[in-house]
Amino acid sequence: MAIIILALVVFLLALIYVYVAMAVSDWLGVPFVPTYSWDVKKLLSTIKARKNDVFYDIGAGDGSVVRYAAKHWGIESYGVEKNRMLVWYARLISWITRQTDVHMIAADAFSVSYRNATIIYLYLFPEFIAKLIVKLKKECKPRTLVISHKFIIKPWSNSLEQFEEKTKTYFYRLP
Ligand SMILES: C[S@@+](CC[C@H](N)C(=O)[O-])C[C@H]1O[C@@H](n2cnc3c(N)ncnc32)[C@H](O)[C@@H]1O
Repeated sequence: MAIIILALVVFLLALIYVYVAMAVSDWLGVPFVPTYSWDVKKLLSTIKARKNDVFYDIGAGDGSVVRYAAKHWGIESYGVEKNRMLVWYARLISWITRQTDVHMIAADAFSVSYRNATIIYLYLFPEFIAKLIVKLKKECKPRTLVISHKFIIKPWSNSLEQFEEKTKTYFYRLP
């Protein structure tokens, strides 16, 4: 009985923590809206990664996409997230699940270098993406794959490689 009560208390505390973290993200300007787990599975399974690929989720939230990428492909995976509450949560989960190839970077997206990235995932508002692509274009290697969930990147329409209808996800290959 005591174990059940303890588990319930831990679950409730975790829930409250995530809700407060979501409010903090709202306050920071870009709300934390996670990609549905079935969408993550669907959209990441449409591409094949090589063992030396490096994955980045910019604005990684609770790190669930980063953990899935690391587990699914077995590659080094990074999450960049400004909201430290979400970063601590994500680090705790990857510590519990013993995923040593998951790295959460607590930083503003514009202060991180993406030079070593080969696959980048974005689930961000168009205004945010519009600023970020200037940086990505400067830093990223040719042939880097940039995945934008839900939002088209109009200036990159020539680089659109694939559109996944079910999840409304755009895949761009940098020239
Ligand atoms: C729509 S959520 C996407 C979360 C995650 N990528 C997913 O798909 O499940 C956007 C995230 O970007 C984060 N964010 C907002 N502004 C940011 C910034 N300047 N630098 C880094 N992260 C930021 C928010 O805190 C939020 O967690």
